[in-house]
Amino acid sequence: MGNIICGTGTEVPDLVVTNADLARIMDTSDEWIYRRTGVRERRFVEPGTATSDLAAGAGRAALDDAGLGPEEVDVLITATMTPDTFAPGISSLVQEKLGLGAVGAYDLRQQCSGFLYGLDLADALLSSEKAGTVLVVGAEVHSGFLPWDGSWPYLLGTADGPVPADQYRRNSRYRAWSVLFGDGAGAAVLRRSSNPEVGILASRLHSDGTHHELIHVPGVGFSRRPYVDLARLEAGEHLPHMQGRELFREAVSRMPEAVLEVLDATGTAPAELDLVVAHQANARIVEGVRKALGMAPDQVPVNIDRYANTTAGTLPILFDELRRADRVRPGSLVVFTAFGAGAHWGAALYREP
Ligand code: ACO
Repeated sequence: MGNIICGTGTEVPDLVVTNADLARIMDTSDEWIYRRTGVRERRFVEPGTATSDLAAGAGRAALDDAGLGPEEVDVLITATMTPDTFAPGISSLVQEKLGLGAVGAYDLRQQCSGFLYGLDLADALLSSEKAGTVLVVGAEVHSGFLPWDGSWPYLLGTADGPVPADQYRRNSRYRAWSVLFGDGAGAAVLRRSSNPEVGILASRLHSDGTHHELIHVPGVGFSRRPYVDLARLEAGEHLPHMQGRELFREAVSRMPEAVLEVLDATGTAPAELDLVVAHQANARIVEGVRKALGMAPDQVPVNIDRYANTTAGTLPILFDELRRADRVRPGSLVVFTAFGAGAHWGAALYREP
């Protein structure tokens, strides 16, 4: 029995912020950002829109694509590192916004690998016949942690002229990671197929806590008493702290390793793959994965230029785009792979029915 993706959907905000827009509020340039990361622009929600809103939009689009109504979903799996509130997670909000019944709803915390972990869980739920239809959503509103407090009006188009010098200095302090992220959500509906040759053929997940601090938010959490305080906020410890180069090195080796594992598990040669859908954290990382696997450029697509890193959203957004562009054909062999905070990583091999 194969577990297939029978619908996909995307929800991204309308507001586009280009690298040139960011260069107005901090010491950076389109040239630096594009050359080092592949990002040209990203999208941000208007204040008031939360991760559960984007997740529900993507989930609704995926259900429409599958031709299913909300009442047909047995289990909802959501993945995000930017929930609407610190607790609880977004899954019950998405359940409500989509008008699902009182179904089981999971919150996954695997950041960039969240959607991949969701696919694996959906596969297990379907194979064990605990569910017949599973909706998996990866969604982020990163704009909440972007440290541009007074400068947002310049990006939203409601303020003109140069930003005040103190804001420019502060924004520049965080430029190494703040230019990388965007908001967005993607979703997939999975169901069982009677054909065991199609659907998720193998998946492998990994984690390594020795890399917990490669990217993390150190100052807010329950190892503290109280779990948040003003001094930590003033020190910027509620913001992501990232060791970019180390992350880069791990990502370019772990993703190809995981891909080779699922290929080995199924006796598949890399040359048989049609597409590699890789986490979009940096176009240079995707390029490293491509080279390690010996694939052609058009087999390892990139859309980070338009959305930046949407963390749990990147895999389903990219896969949805590829399906819409008719790049995923009946019988196409696709591998999904991701690496990110935790560290968590892995791969899933998928044959389109
Ligand atoms: N604009 C202009 N200059 C910048 C910027 C910027 N936005 N950011 C950094 N610089 C400068 C630095 O200050 C440094 O200057 P110096 O040489 O005078 O000291 C120079 O550029 C080089 O900086 P590095 O940090 O060494 O640049 P690097 O080539 O390593 O690229 C990057 C940085 C893009 C962050 C890269 O390391 C990377 O992509 N790492 C992986 C990131 C990642 O995967 N993140 C997310 C994964 S987890 C998740 O998604 C939740």
